[in-house]
Amino acid sequence: MTTTEHPNEVATAAASGASATERFHADKSPFEAVKDTPPERVATLINEVLAGVHDTIRKHKVTYDEYNALKAWLINVGEDGEWPLFLDVWVEHVVEDVATEHREGNKGSIEGPYYVPNAPDQGSKGAVPMREDEKGDPLLWNGQVRSCDGTPLAGAKVELWHADDDGYYSQFAPGIPEWNLRATFTTDDQGNFEITTIRPAPYMIPTDGSCGKMISAAGWHPWRPAHLHLKVSAPGHEQLTAQLYFPGDAHNDDDVASAVKPELILDPQDNGKGGYTVAYDFVLDPVK
Ligand code: DHB
Ligand code: FE
Repeated sequence: MTTTEHPNEVATAAASGASATERFHADKSPFEAVKDTPPERVATLINEVLAGVHDTIRKHKVTYDEYNALKAWLINVGEDGEWPLFLDVWVEHVVEDVATEHREGNKGSIEGPYYVPNAPDQGSKGAVPMREDEKGDPLLWNGQVRSCDGTPLAGAKVELWHADDDGYYSQFAPGIPEWNLRATFTTDDQGNFEITTIRPAPYMIPTDGSCGKMISAAGWHPWRPAHLHLKVSAPGHEQLTAQLYFPGDAHNDDDVASAVKPELILDPQDNGKGGYTVAYDFVLDPVK
């Protein structure tokens, strides 16, 4: 597998995996949140996952060579720091579906491994931090945040992060300014926001590590369609984590992370000057 050239340095699976692992440890205390889970539930979940594995082994007569290859691969995923990538690409979408199935407002999509909290606040209207010569078609996005009953939510936070025109995320690939294409917006008294950014490129998950090996061994492809990542939050409402996509992207129908939903595909309008305008609102569910 080749890696992709990037300003002066090369983005590697090991480096982005290490950053994603470090970020995950920095922001979350995953065990604390489940410390009261009863042992019966823990045992049920583990037993059912193992039963699925055992059934697969029996059904397909998995050999010792295959078992040892799996063992080596699992060890390598850890050594490459690719557990965040593996889980967010092949597992998170189902967790997200289950977590949001009760919602009347926006349901959302996976967070993925590259969120960083506390991106610079740009008020209700402004540009995402970007390089002077940032490549990519300009995108002007107007939207509103509302509650399920239609009430506009003033002071809601819209956090946006996305890849650049080469498909790289700041803080996870080398040579990109710290907060490039990452920002927080705060809705005005009508719940409105206006964001200036660029259209991101399709994203290829790193192919030079263990996940890449699995993808090529299975004859799959490593692509996610171009997407904007968002977190939208307001007091008294469930936080929304979402992604927005662009029509006509070749990978909207076969996203490696299975995270596209039809209602998340934008309808950008060509502004006749090489850029696009788009309208997309968010509806948040009140906390019950
Ligand atoms: C991965 C990257 C993304 O940008 C994303 O949205 C989902 C998953 C990944 O590399 O795992
Ligand atoms: Fe992403």
